[in-house]
Amino acid sequence: MCGIVGYIGDKVTTEVLLKGIENLEYRGYDSAGIAIANENKIQIIREVGKVSKLKEKLEKEKLITSSFGIAHTRWATNGEVSLKNTHPHNVGKVTLVHNGIIENADKLKERLLKKGYVFKSKTDTEVVAALLDNYLKTKSEKQALLSMVKQLEGSFALVIMIEGKDYLYAVRNKSPLVIGSLKDEKYIASDIPAIAEFTKDYLLLEDLEIAKVTKEEVEVYDQKGKKVKRKVKRIDVTNEIIDKQGYEHFMLKEIMEEPRVLHNLLDIYLDHLDDLDISRYDNVHIVACGSAMYAGMIGKVLLEEKAHIDVTVEVASEYRYKKNIYRDKTLVILISQSGETADTIAALRIAKANHQDTLAIINTKNSTIDREADKTFYIEAGVEVAVATTKAYILQVALLSLMAYVTAKKKSLLDVDECIEVINHFKALPRLIQNILKDNELYKKIAKQLYKHDNIFFIGRKMDYAMCLEGSLKLKEISYIHSEAYPAGELKHGTISLIDKGLPVIAIMTDKKLKEKMLSNIKECEARYAKMFIITSEVIDEKDTTIVVKKTDQFTQTLLVVPILQMIAYNVALLRGCDIDKPKNLAKSVTVE
Ligand code: AGP
Repeated sequence: MCGIVGYIGDKVTTEVLLKGIENLEYRGYDSAGIAIANENKIQIIREVGKVSKLKEKLEKEKLITSSFGIAHTRWATNGEVSLKNTHPHNVGKVTLVHNGIIENADKLKERLLKKGYVFKSKTDTEVVAALLDNYLKTKSEKQALLSMVKQLEGSFALVIMIEGKDYLYAVRNKSPLVIGSLKDEKYIASDIPAIAEFTKDYLLLEDLEIAKVTKEEVEVYDQKGKKVKRKVKRIDVTNEIIDKQGYEHFMLKEIMEEPRVLHNLLDIYLDHLDDLDISRYDNVHIVACGSAMYAGMIGKVLLEEKAHIDVTVEVASEYRYKKNIYRDKTLVILISQSGETADTIAALRIAKANHQDTLAIINTKNSTIDREADKTFYIEAGVEVAVATTKAYILQVALLSLMAYVTAKKKSLLDVDECIEVINHFKALPRLIQNILKDNELYKKIAKQLYKHDNIFFIGRKMDYAMCLEGSLKLKEISYIHSEAYPAGELKHGTISLIDKGLPVIAIMTDKKLKEKMLSNIKECEARYAKMFIITSEVIDEKDTTIVVKKTDQFTQTLLVVPILQMIAYNVALLRGCDIDKPKNLAKSVTVE
């Protein structure tokens, strides 16, 4: 998942291109490069490392005057992180940037080597440039592009320059690509954040479409070369994307937004709760990746316990290859912040190929999953820039919880008093989270006792275990500490062998019915001299490492615990001096498989 941009217009090309890839760095930041052009020359400058490194290099270069160009920030897939593998790639008349994975690159490369092409990099992208260059020797540009698209297997979003031509081409298949348009300038980008500060009007390319982009217009062609009309949409994000608004990191800013965006979600849905009813289904598959899948696990417990619906939760990268059992009334729910996660898209397409009803819980509007699912519920988190999701996860859980509540109510599984109590708990959440987030001194104190460790355990049962998974992932993602989330009842079946003197174990205990069981698990760990940190809504003998959260109900308890886990992970990463918004090896939207 790399970030690609293209620009054509009268602004200073390098400035626009650099700003664009800076806004896309959350998609990958192993290396970066730009290519600028005028009628006589194409100039390519590339650098390993973040965009800031490329900027330093550009300051030392003599740049041609240019009115258009392309740029790229890389998350390495094919070929190690090195200057020669950095985009843009040039072969013959073709210079291009690419986001995606070409699955038949090796086969194409063999064919092109026989035609005398020599490759300088190990990337699949350079193969695409050579393939197009080769077609251009005997075909018109449009036919050459159509032939190239026909040959490529896999995912690709490409922005292409051709020597001597003063326009750009954009091509996409399974990787996102938007074209921002103003009267006499055009912006091409992997994602909306890269263009949002320049223009609010954009159009989306569909899979296998080609766009010829000049300053004045965008011509879109389908895979048969037929011109198609593409309606211009309006971006509904403000410039919040590019501004940390005084916070040290986007992650902290986005955690602090949780009360507001949760209040906003409740505002949207509390008046239309019936829209969230899924009582006509008796079986649900929840499919997602990473934190989105962990949010799904919370949804599973609530839909099963409260709405009596049979739910399975699967990681999308497994779901798409396994034998899935569908019943007459199965609903497949896809959860995705970006709406562009390749494995989740594939799972959605498999569900649809099996004629199942599909429902997406999405943050990014007009994303691929949004467009292809039968129905979408938006979480309206606003743009989430930090690679580690926080506010979006919270809203995914909140929406699933509201769905479980509405469905239980529809099935008369909750009486009137219970319904009133649940709604009151939901309405109290923003203020309660606000108070929880104020307690940063406590999270700092806990973090100080954790940050020097190399291994940390999380234990819990049922929904608490699902929270352990998310808490553990947050910690791993941004602090690089190895951590395991374990069902507390499983410890004695192997993992307890790892409990050593002083090893930190974070126990989450909010289920009254399981309190005694959890206390025994905690004692088992203490008997092996583990250092216990307990997060609980139950009354227990408190230690200075105990964090007590207000007792609410099963629908809302998670939403008071997870912000604590997020703040602990944030403070640990801060103490370890990690790059919190852009953790190494990660990217925000995993648009490759
Ligand atoms: C979460 O902090 C991670 N960045 C990652 O697990 C993420 O949740 C996962 O890649 C799914 O992304 P999506 O919600 O955009 O599909």
